[in-house]
Order: sequence, then structure tokens, then C-alpha cells
Amino acid sequence: MTATPAGMSYADYLDLDRLLGAQHPRSDLHDEMLFIVIHQTKELWLKQMLHEVALSISLVGSDRFAEAYKALSRVSRIQSVMTLSWDVLATLTPVDYSAFRHVLGTSSGFQSAQFRELEFRLGIKDSRFLEHQEGGSAGQERLRAALQEPSLWDEANAALARAGFRIDSEEAIAAAWLRVYRDSETHFELYQLAEKLVDIDDALAAWRHKHLLTVERIIGMKTGTGGSAGAAYLASTLAKRAFPVLWALRTEL
Ligand code: HEM
Repeated sequence: MTATPAGMSYADYLDLDRLLGAQHPRSDLHDEMLFIVIHQTKELWLKQMLHEVALSISLVGSDRFAEAYKALSRVSRIQSVMTLSWDVLATLTPVDYSAFRHVLGTSSGFQSAQFRELEFRLGIKDSRFLEHQEGGSAGQERLRAALQEPSLWDEANAALARAGFRIDSEEAIAAAWLRVYRDSETHFELYQLAEKLVDIDDALAAWRHKHLLTVERIIGMKTGTGGSAGAAYLASTLAKRAFPVLWALRTEL
């Protein structure tokens, strides 16, 4: 164990000078602070989720399921908090927001490398998003690594293979998960893992819905600062699933 340095304070431990010195409103309008704090909080939670997902990937990779459930449950709880935080942002009226929206320039949550990395680490890999990161930036490098490394979905399928299932085609993978659900008592650990994955997909979809609703409430059908069609683009992301096989099999049960 590392010894606690004598005299270390709360502010030292948490590096609060830097953390609380990192809010730089670009207007003198009261509401811009909320906008900055909500986004920074989201980036911190994303950091924690990536930390838990990385652990889960390695635990599932070594069949340590009970420990993986714990980390995955934590991810789901953080997602609930993030979804709830839209209610705080919704206190920002269209009038409040339009007064400072111009200061954002072309910046947008669309460019959040951590959000995209979370999608990639779960299994929603799309190399086109690399172009939206600055060339050679740390964010782009992390996304490149995440594209190449096994996702949580890849590791869940590798666990299926170790349990004796065939996973040599998409159809074989779908059939294997269906068998896990049909005989959940025999394959309880994999079944439980799959349900933890569905919890995460469910919460991610709920977050996307609430984002869209909040965006419609605040900017209506205006185009996004990141250059997309705005609400119409966000609506097109609602059907994204990290684990579509686990959703599809429900029709077969
Ligand atoms: C006034 C508040 C907000 C508005 C009007 C807004 C609007 C938008 C729009 C229009 C997009 C599509 C890309 C673009 O053209 O910019 C987008 C993407 C995104 N926003 Fe927001 N947003 C808001 C707040 C937030 C907050 C608080 C978060 C995080 C907690 C967030 C996270 C994201 C993410 C991660 C994306 C990418 C989604 C994807 O590609 O699937 N946004 N936002």
C-alpha cells in the first residue's frame, strides 16, 4: 500500500485547483456555466465507465463472470445518473441557450472521443468516426486502438466458444446465444452476462432518447454545432445497439 503523504489535504488529493479551475465560460451569461459543468461531468463519468468496461473485458476474457457482473452493474448505474442529468440541462431554456450558443463555434458532443471509445469498446465499431478526431490526437489514437482490440461483445463470444459453442459465423453466434437463453439454468453464467450487456444497451438507448428530447426542447430542428442535421441525426442513432443479437433472440424465445 502507498503511504499517505503527511499533511495531504482533500484539495491536494483531488487536484481541485485544476479541476475547479477548468471552467472557462466564453460569455458573461449566467447559464453558460451549467452547460460547461454538465459536459465536463459527462466526460468524467465516461472516463469511469471506460475504466469499468476495460476491467470487464479482461474479466470476461478469463471467465471471471461474477466479478465482471459487478463492474458491469456499476456501468449501468452511472448510465442512469447520466440519463437523469438531462433533467438538469432541460432547465436551460431555448432563450437562455441561444444567447450563448454562438460561443461554441463548431464544437459538439459529437466530437467526444470518450463517448465514441465507449461505443467501440462495447462493440459498436465504425472507423468513419476516426475522421472526426484531430489527426494524430490522443483521442484519435485511443479510438484506433479500440477499433483493433477485442470489444466486450468479442470477449463475450470468446467465452461462448470456451464453453463449447460454435462461433464461426454470425448465424452460429446467434444460435449459440439463443441456446443459452433457452437453457438458462445450464448456462447460467453466460445468461447472466448477456442480461448485464442488455442492461447497458438499454441504458444507452434511454440516454440517446433523452438527449434527443432535450435537444428538441432546446434547439428544435436547428442544425447541430457539429455540422449534422441536428435532431434528425440524433433520431438516426436511436436504433444503434452494441449487442443486437441479444435483442433479436427475444423474438425467438
Ligand atoms: C443544449 C444542449 C445540447 C444540444 C443542443 C446538443 C445537440 C447535439 C446535436 C445537434 C448533436 C449532433 C451532432 C451535431 O451536429 O452537433 C449532438 C451530438 C452529441 N451530443 Fe449533444 N447536445 C447538447 C448537450 C449534450 C450533453 C449535455 C451531452 C453529454 C452529456 C451531449 C453529448 C453528445 C454526444 C455524445 C453526441 C454524439 C452522439 C452520436 O453521434 O451518437 N450533448 N448533440
